[in-house]
Amino acid sequence: MTNTIIRDIAAKDHPHWMILWAEYLRFYREKLPVEITDATWAVLMETDGAIKGIVAEKSGIVVGFALYLFHPSTGSLHCNCYLEDLYVAENSRGGGVARALILEVYKRADIAKAGRVYWQTQQYNAPARALYDTLAKVTSNVQYERY
Ligand SMILES: CC(C)(COP(=O)(O)OP(=O)(O)OC[C@H]1O[C@@H](n2cnc3c(N)ncnc32)[C@H](O)[C@@H]1OP(=O)(O)O)[C@@H](O)C(=O)NCCC(=O)NCCS
Repeated sequence: MTNTIIRDIAAKDHPHWMILWAEYLRFYREKLPVEITDATWAVLMETDGAIKGIVAEKSGIVVGFALYLFHPSTGSLHCNCYLEDLYVAENSRGGGVARALILEVYKRADIAKAGRVYWQTQQYNAPARALYDTLAKVTSNVQYERY
């Protein structure tokens, strides 16, 4: 993690983020229409946008990002924080970048007084789960999605 800065995503990050976003979609074999990617970027650039982004920058290059959002909850007076997307460039993995991104989301959730910080991953995503197991507990929730 030497020389890695974690900071808010900014307009200048667009070219690097687009590369990482494309790699992330490829990782998930997801083909998103370009207007969705453009809309996500536009929200990220809003001052009080509903989706928030942070990046990890190493020697002027963005090597990872986390996108998260706060939403109200029927179970708490405070919002919850959902970590929706997390990605680190292949050649920057294993050095604590994702851990630092998640810890930064935790910090921001604390500032927002969020009741929970949660996210999901595939059961078989072993590298991600090895990291998550050191930072969070696995819940018994099962996700359902409309047919
Ligand atoms: C999952 C991912 C974000 C991890 O990023 P990373 O920067 O390599 O993670 P870190 O270096 O912070 O991980 C630290 C810990 O995670 C575990 N870990 C990370 N990569 C691992 C791997 N390939 N094999 C085994 N353990 C791994 C280790 O326990 C490591 O602990 P250590 O610091 O004591 O060695 C990255 O592999 C990635 O972007 N994968 C593709 C997209 C993805 O799966 N995103 C998450 C979707 S939910």
